[in-house]
Amino acid sequence: MEKHETCSERTVERQRDVTNEDCLSELTKGRCPVNFPVAVVLPAAGSGERTGLSTPKQFCKILGRPLISYTIHAFERVFWIDSIVVVVAKESHDLMTDIIQKYNHTKVKIVEGGSTRHRSIFNGLLAFSEQGFGPKLQKPKVVIIHDAVRPFLEEDFLLKITLAANKQGASGAVRPLVSTVVAATTGGYLDHSLERARYRASEMPQGFIYDIIYQAYQHCSEAEFKFGTECLELALQHCGTSAVLIEGPSSLWKVTHKQDLASAEAVIKESLSQSACIITGECTETQNLSTWMKNGLMAEGMWVDAIPNIEQGMTLSTNRNLIKLSVNSPKSVEIEEFMKMCEETKDVLYPFVILWVYLNVSGQASFSQENDEASAIMTLAEDAQKRNIFLYCVRLSYSKDSTECERTMNKLCQITVALIRDRSAAFSGQMLYA
Ligand code: CTP
Ligand code: MG
Repeated sequence: MEKHETCSERTVERQRDVTNEDCLSELTKGRCPVNFPVAVVLPAAGSGERTGLSTPKQFCKILGRPLISYTIHAFERVFWIDSIVVVVAKESHDLMTDIIQKYNHTKVKIVEGGSTRHRSIFNGLLAFSEQGFGPKLQKPKVVIIHDAVRPFLEEDFLLKITLAANKQGASGAVRPLVSTVVAATTGGYLDHSLERARYRASEMPQGFIYDIIYQAYQHCSEAEFKFGTECLELALQHCGTSAVLIEGPSSLWKVTHKQDLASAEAVIKESLSQSACIITGECTETQNLSTWMKNGLMAEGMWVDAIPNIEQGMTLSTNRNLIKLSVNSPKSVEIEEFMKMCEETKDVLYPFVILWVYLNVSGQASFSQENDEASAIMTLAEDAQKRNIFLYCVRLSYSKDSTECERTMNKLCQITVALIRDRSAAFSGQMLYA
């Protein structure tokens, strides 16, 4: 019997051919294996009907920042990507301009979208051609097309797609099917099902030699513009270019339904909660407290550094959460100064947590003193939140009794983990007690 090459065999074989491990290792050594111009088109002109929300999903906020800004950032941080064309509906033009300014996106050009995804993508491609409107961008050798609503992608996978597209003309991410695909009769009954192992789900990103995909779109029929969903198919039908299919990570999923926004938020929170840096101060009490906290937080799976003061904090830029320890209750001016120093070392695109923990060694403060402290912190936190910082305070009840002390420390670790993981705006500026 004739042996048919299965889809997965073909994928693996081609992947071996084009993945080019040497290039990946060059990248990790800081040398760039991409020596040709690369641009990106991000279609973002849809209305997100399936979410049921009035705001299109690409503009829905996750931790205060629009989803599309995360996606743009994923491309912008890749130094071998020259430009990013974001395709948005006419009525979203001003909103998109504000996002670009607010989050300091530097490689982005906005283009007006069309009535279908294919039309929007074609409009994006036209930005590099003489036939487009407005000033022409430099034509890339390879163009990556990616949905604006798939925010999680890493440079190594983009590199695979780009190198494969450069070599084969077209490439695309695929994933194993989660469910079996069935065809229904017009009456709604099962007609037949497909053998799940032989098929793949087509995901994004996809890469193309620019001239190929541009030509494919120029030959696109009205029906294809209206009902088509697959760019790789256009390259095959109109240019005879058979795309390389590369299995991508599961993180490439697309935000489609309302609950996907909650999942995206959970993924982002998780990635922001993996590490913390404790600023210990110089005195014995806070250094002992730091050792306790470090052990407790590491037991919770967090990676923790401890440094005596923020001036030595070159490690701060990789740690997005800071825990400041002090003996006495902090003065507003102290907190303000500390926040300023933190901001200088941070990528403010991502919200980060500052947790100020203080030992209440000197005993009880008066009720009015406590009230003043709490309201000063609340004002500071309100202001900080506008700058993407969540500020919380924890006051420890100091005790010489070792059982009581252990209870306090455990409570402190629980509170710290919860605040860092949840990044709750509601608790920002609150004074908590452990
Ligand atoms: N898209 C586009 N222009 C259109 C339709 C869709 O640029 N006319 C974009 C979407 O903004 C999205 C991507 O194509 O970034 C993938 O499309 P999809 O997930 O279908 O998004 P929507 O069409 O917005 O959602 P829905 O189908 O639920 O309405
Ligand atoms: Mg759609």
